[in-house]
Amino acid sequence: MERKKILITGGAGFVGYHLARHLLSTSTAKLVLVDNLFRGRMDAELKTVLKNSRVTFLNLDLTDPRAYLRLGSQYDHVYHLAAVNGTGIFYDMPHEVMRINTATILLFLEWFRKKNARGKILFTSSNEAYAGGLSSFGQLPIPTPENVPLVIADTYNPRWTYAGTKLLGELFLIHYAEHYKFRGVIVRPHNFYGPRAGYNHVIPELSLRIAARIDPFPIYGATDTRSFCYIDDAVAAMVLLMESGKTDGQPIETVHIGVAEETPIRVLVETLFDVAEWRPKKLDIHEAPKGSVARRRGDVQKIKKLVGWAADVSLRDGLKSTFAWYATHPDTKMKNERIKVFV
Ligand SMILES: NC(=O)c1ccc[n+]([C@@H]2O[C@H](COP(=O)([O-])OP(=O)(O)OC[C@H]3O[C@@H](n4cnc5c(N)ncnc54)[C@H](O)[C@@H]3O)[C@@H](O)[C@H]2O)c1
Repeated sequence: MERKKILITGGAGFVGYHLARHLLSTSTAKLVLVDNLFRGRMDAELKTVLKNSRVTFLNLDLTDPRAYLRLGSQYDHVYHLAAVNGTGIFYDMPHEVMRINTATILLFLEWFRKKNARGKILFTSSNEAYAGGLSSFGQLPIPTPENVPLVIADTYNPRWTYAGTKLLGELFLIHYAEHYKFRGVIVRPHNFYGPRAGYNHVIPELSLRIAARIDPFPIYGATDTRSFCYIDDAVAAMVLLMESGKTDGQPIETVHIGVAEETPIRVLVETLFDVAEWRPKKLDIHEAPKGSVARRRGDVQKIKKLVGWAADVSLRDGLKSTFAWYATHPDTKMKNERIKVFV
């Protein structure tokens, strides 16, 4: 049997790296990882993946049309994950968020329709797609289904650049797939977490502060809730969606990947104290940063119905391996700044 050929853009990033590891351990596929290392790191973990003879790494900037000449063709599955994300980046360089995320999706889909239209494509949108609706109308149904109206709350606020590019990406994918008749699926990730997820998210920041024994221990937005999905579960869901014939039709499906449980930040912090076997003497509780969404939980019934997937790893088990990784991989640039709960 011929080996599958799989392309992962953003392959050096958090999700791309774990997806590559998952595919290497569960299939015989050959993988091509593409990344310009804007955010992904060429660290020891990634180098271990690249040592596998089934993996090729291409250092390409997908905003450059010339990059596509080196991308090859005829991949069975293509996971288009490359994007710039992270709340700090939305505020620091919103124009770059617009340029990079829009150019990569447009150029990538042009390459795909011309060179790879027999393959299948997965595009990672975001649960940030709902943040505009939540901030404009105060509430959305919780759990939030995939088909609620999507809102950009304020075009002048840099915060909404990222969500804007994700909605554009969804529109591009749906209408290109329909017109050029290719198969694809859009996923909206809900707070994936795990080892090697970078340093600017709530779980990495909390883990690093616990490892550094910060006391009093600051908590921002203790009653805000999120639903955290462990990365091993998340990448397994992505592969299932790509493998399933149930997502081969038109129009293409948009599907949440997340967990059914909603976790208050206070409970998240307490669970992390437990797994770290350390507790500060004093908690320093603050309100959530301005603009933070109070509750986020995606409805995960659709993915269950489509491909029978539900998350398997408990929050405690996921936090155990995540904390262990961060405790042994401190961020050398870590500043003693406040913990953000924009997640
Ligand atoms: N992790 C989550 O919980 C989450 C939530 C919502 C959406 N997403 C989406 O899932 C995808 C993967 O997320 P992640 O957490 O792995 O992010 P990440 O930042 O770790 O990975 C994205 C990768 O894309 C690369 N990249 C950026 N611009 C590029 C360019 N011009 N050319 C080539 N590569 C480029 C970066 O260097 C990075 O390694 C992204 O599209 C993100 O928006 C993730």
